[in-house]
Amino acid sequence: MKEKIVAALGFLKIEGLYDLLEIPKERELGDYSLPCFALAKKLKKSPNDIAKEIAEKISKKGFDRVVASGGYVNFFFDKKELAEKVIKEINKKGEDYGKIMGKGKIMVEFSQPNTHKAFHVGHIRGTSLGESIARIAEFCGNKVVRANYSGDTGMHIAKWIWCYRKYHGKEKLKGDEKWFADIYVDAVKKLEKSPKIQEEVDEINRKLDSGVDKELNKLWKDTRKLSIKSWERIYRELNTRFDVHIFESEVEKEGREIVMEIVKRKIAKESEGAIIVDFNEHGRPDLGVLVLLRKDGTVLYGAKDLALAKNKLEKHKLDKSIYVIGKAQERYVYQIFEILKLMGMKGSEKNIYVPVNEVRFPWGKMASRSGDNIFYSDFRDNMIEIARKEIKKREASISEKGAQKRALAITISAMKYSMLKQDVNKNIIFDPKKEIKFDGDTGPYLLYSYARARNIIKKAGHKIDSNFEIYGIGDSEKKIVELMASFPEVVKEAEQKLSPSTIAHFSYDLAKAFNEFYHECPVIGSENEKFRLKLVDSFSQVLKNSLRLLGINTIAKM
Ligand code: ARG
Repeated sequence: MKEKIVAALGFLKIEGLYDLLEIPKERELGDYSLPCFALAKKLKKSPNDIAKEIAEKISKKGFDRVVASGGYVNFFFDKKELAEKVIKEINKKGEDYGKIMGKGKIMVEFSQPNTHKAFHVGHIRGTSLGESIARIAEFCGNKVVRANYSGDTGMHIAKWIWCYRKYHGKEKLKGDEKWFADIYVDAVKKLEKSPKIQEEVDEINRKLDSGVDKELNKLWKDTRKLSIKSWERIYRELNTRFDVHIFESEVEKEGREIVMEIVKRKIAKESEGAIIVDFNEHGRPDLGVLVLLRKDGTVLYGAKDLALAKNKLEKHKLDKSIYVIGKAQERYVYQIFEILKLMGMKGSEKNIYVPVNEVRFPWGKMASRSGDNIFYSDFRDNMIEIARKEIKKREASISEKGAQKRALAITISAMKYSMLKQDVNKNIIFDPKKEIKFDGDTGPYLLYSYARARNIIKKAGHKIDSNFEIYGIGDSEKKIVELMASFPEVVKEAEQKLSPSTIAHFSYDLAKAFNEFYHECPVIGSENEKFRLKLVDSFSQVLKNSLRLLGINTIAKM
């Protein structure tokens, strides 16, 4: 349709009009609009006059209306023609409808749980966000490398091992992420009660660091392995996977070497025995100071991140290197980016930070066993229970297994959608009872709309026919058509802004339009049946495609 506009504007003899065309923010203003401001210089006329002249001169064929308004020419398509075109296109492209050509290489680092700590709701948000950003980038033709970076060394391990040996030693080691998290929480509580214990933990930390104690090393290795294994189920449920998995223990040595090098290069310096970067000396007082090595020589988080970045940028020729990391670490991330720049590391200008904001609950600070964080499994089980009750209420005869499977899909859609629809810079207040509802601005509502559409198609059986004529097109039908037609542009916007929320909002608008249509227009048996069936079928395809970009799988039945 854009090409059609460009063709109609051929008489202007101006290049680059295709890229000038935009979709108006307020859809009532038109399907596309041409801002004439950029043309004013060339044509030596005011944008207002240019718009008026174009609107008068243009051949109206194929357009419903062409209207000039304050320096813009607004195009309204003939909706029947648009419907035919877009349905044909969706039919042809199916799962690929909306895809955009591109050829970049993008790394997305996300999720990053620690081996001996909880996988909590914050990780769900980060994982959902990273996976969605990755899928959108792929859909836009980029090669995407999904990277995970886990903490498997340092104080949290020492605390866990200390607590396990002293209080849980009789329990068999388990590949269960809840069990790992529980022991860590127990350690933290015990340490809070009697801080003196820290000496024992420090001792373990030193031993782990030097690697002298064989038995301790083995315990670290075994538990680390089990914990990593326990994430497999979580990632399967969250529809994600990783191409590379880097651990802090793997970049420790190189991190230290880099620090030594940047001391020589006067980027870092010694201060009271420790090694720091003082950003005041580098013209960035806003970034303060970052400590890279402790007084006792142990390597800190930041030193490891320098080695991690080096690995990423040297091994891969990246167009973008995205870090999806908690908002609490925002300043830290920019400190690392700045050091990389000071080092002159090749590709460091490709680094992009995407914050993961907090997830809170309506009842305030996350009250749970852990005191401050809700574990993935607890959270999931809780939601599944709510979903299962709802499913049973609707379909008493469903098998236990069937209900469980469907409840999981609903739960994942609820979690992911609520976490993705919100702007990354904002906190989320997550109300499980609300988010799992089948109506309203929720994930299950989207799944429900999809299932509803598939049900109509199923009922129609053989009747679906690609040759259809349109006898009249109503407002709700127009709305669906317009939204479906705009999907490729929406995808592009989401890619450029790295914002899954754009896709989430689109999905909701599309589902809402469909449900309005569903209540207003009979499908099977109506005079417009053939067209409406195709419309419903196409709608379900586009919703499926857009939900896939959010990492949400559709289900045929709710
Ligand atoms: N494992 C870290 C944490 O739990 C997050 C890692 C973030 N990524 C990074 N490159 N520093 O806080």
